[in-house]
Amino acid sequence: MRHLISPLDFNTEETNRLLDLAEDIRTHRDRYSDICRGKKIATLFYEPSTRTRLSFEAAMLNLGGSVLGFSSVDSSSVSKGESVADTVRVISCYADIVAMRHPKEGAPLVASIYSDVPVINAGDGGHQHPTQTLTDLMTIRSLKGRLDHLTIGLCGDLKFGRTVHSLINALVRYENISFVLISPPELALPDYIREDVLVANNIPFREVNRMEDVLGKLDVLYMTRVQRERFFNEQDYIRLKDVYILTKEKMALAPADMIVMHPLPRVNEISVEVDKDPRAVYFKQAQFGVYVRMALILTLLEMVPEAEHA
Ligand code: NCD
Repeated sequence: MRHLISPLDFNTEETNRLLDLAEDIRTHRDRYSDICRGKKIATLFYEPSTRTRLSFEAAMLNLGGSVLGFSSVDSSSVSKGESVADTVRVISCYADIVAMRHPKEGAPLVASIYSDVPVINAGDGGHQHPTQTLTDLMTIRSLKGRLDHLTIGLCGDLKFGRTVHSLINALVRYENISFVLISPPELALPDYIREDVLVANNIPFREVNRMEDVLGKLDVLYMTRVQRERFFNEQDYIRLKDVYILTKEKMALAPADMIVMHPLPRVNEISVEVDKDPRAVYFKQAQFGVYVRMALILTLLEMVPEAEHA
């Protein structure tokens, strides 16, 4: 039985196969509408979420299955002090697959050890967010036509942003990828990614403060929200929350074929006037998230239709 805890749990060949399946689902939705009839996904969300939880639920409903779960700790027995291990042991009697989001790094990994059904990490603290990464890879591959030979700008909260950590881990496996890390020093990429992933794999990268200086050289600009819930003190959050705001004027400095991505939710970091720019693809990205999660559910449940194995 397989789980998805880290973006590296699938090798590049498996990842590409999953993205192909997601593309096929995108173009032939009706062929997939009944495959998971009778199957259930449990969404165990110990931390607030809108799009990730609902996109898992939409994915299972689109496949003809059904959903159960909780969307906050207050509405579950967790508030009585139940451990993740016990919760997941019980839930695996009720559901065929589990998607878990948790504020503690490593909680979904623990769950996978005790679970009798596949567990998907839907975000653990400031650590990893592999299904967002699959969504991001599908977005880049589909809109830029490739996952190699790209310069990717990552902007905002690179310290606490788990989507950034997972995306870097996944992208360094493709050829000729370079990164431009745009953040204030306080929100710079943690050492365990900079040293152990970028430096260790000889991946070219630059760290800069101002996005204006680098916008002209990017294939992809990946914007992120300053992760308020992971700050120890509100003053620091207030000081840093608006350091980067992507505006129409800044977009004028960017190449005509650059794409702007954002895992959402957006706060202030992209001005709404940018939404009209054809290079702004973050709402499309959210749509891709449903196809990718459909493909992932089918893969982990070993229910990929035969033709797709070919
Ligand atoms: C991200 C997350 O939860 O890490 N959101 C998401 O999954 N779409 C990004 C964020 O919350 O800023």
